[in-house]
Amino acid sequence: MEEKIRAKTDHRVIIGDSRRMEEVEDKSVHLVITSPPYPMIKMWDEIFRKLDERIDRSWSRLEVETDAKMREKYVKRIYELMHENLAKVWREVYRVLVDGGIACINIGDATRSLNGQFRLFANHSKVIEYCEKIGFTTLPYILWKKPTTKPKYKGKGAFLGSGFLPPNAYVTLDCEFILIFRKGGLRKFKPKDEMRHASKYTKEERDSWFTQVWDVVGVKQSIPDIERRVAAFPEEIPYRLIRMFSVIGDTVLDPFLGTGTTTKVAMSLNRNSIGYEIDEGLIEVIKEKVRSFDCSVEIINKIKKFEY
Ligand SMILES: C[S@@+](CC[C@H](N)C(=O)[O-])C[C@H]1O[C@@H](n2cnc3c(N)ncnc32)[C@H](O)[C@@H]1O
Repeated sequence: MEEKIRAKTDHRVIIGDSRRMEEVEDKSVHLVITSPPYPMIKMWDEIFRKLDERIDRSWSRLEVETDAKMREKYVKRIYELMHENLAKVWREVYRVLVDGGIACINIGDATRSLNGQFRLFANHSKVIEYCEKIGFTTLPYILWKKPTTKPKYKGKGAFLGSGFLPPNAYVTLDCEFILIFRKGGLRKFKPKDEMRHASKYTKEERDSWFTQVWDVVGVKQSIPDIERRVAAFPEEIPYRLIRMFSVIGDTVLDPFLGTGTTTKVAMSLNRNSIGYEIDEGLIEVIKEKVRSFDCSVEIINKIKKFEY
């Protein structure tokens, strides 16, 4: 259902590191929607190495270490440090959210062979652990079912000839998580708050959105290479979350903005937005994504060069 009231909205894109969001005041954001780089997924190794030299050093040591026990120590340390870095952002998210504000974090687990062993890195549980330490309340999460890829055998691609013989095959990860957290108690509104009422969803929307499994197909590859490189989420994901957890005129923050999907959807739904993105190379992609909207976007570039 289309919302009826139109509000003039403001949008800011900050090219900078969201581990410190000094441009955003305490308790000024109503909803956070984001998808960070996923720890232990190969495509994000470089960015984590650039973000923290301890991660870089541990990867370099892991590559040359011959002792299996030491290698295991490095694997564990790298994984922990990656989450420690993400937690700096979750701490900032907590600071800037209003009381009763919601944070939706899209993250996938990772499978990988390291130190001679194929294993799962349960990123979703690490994020829950860190967010609870920060003070968030964990709410029921969504499983976003991705189109099925081929099952894996010994972690090495599709099932081969012996793929029907138990017990050495693994379950394929074909769901990602949309973790949902709240800061403090329920958000408070005046009775009959006009904006809240104008932001109502329909019964059909409620019935299909407030379920645990979402079958949303992947991103429309309009700018194929870049959207794939940055792992953009489809607009349907922020669309549902914004309608479910914010009202017209609210401010939505994405601390890992990527190609600007959250900004674009916030514009279309009459919410203000703030986005942080560390890669300066994405400015033009973000501008292109929001071009058709009659909204002004302030772009603040704090980083002159960050390549990964
Ligand atoms: C999974 S992508 C986000 C994709 C986005 N949801 C979209 O639809 O395009 C994660 C993004 O976070 C950015 N990033 C990683 N670390 C960051 C940091 N510390 N501060 C700001 N952005 C960061 C990466 O450059 C990358 O573009």
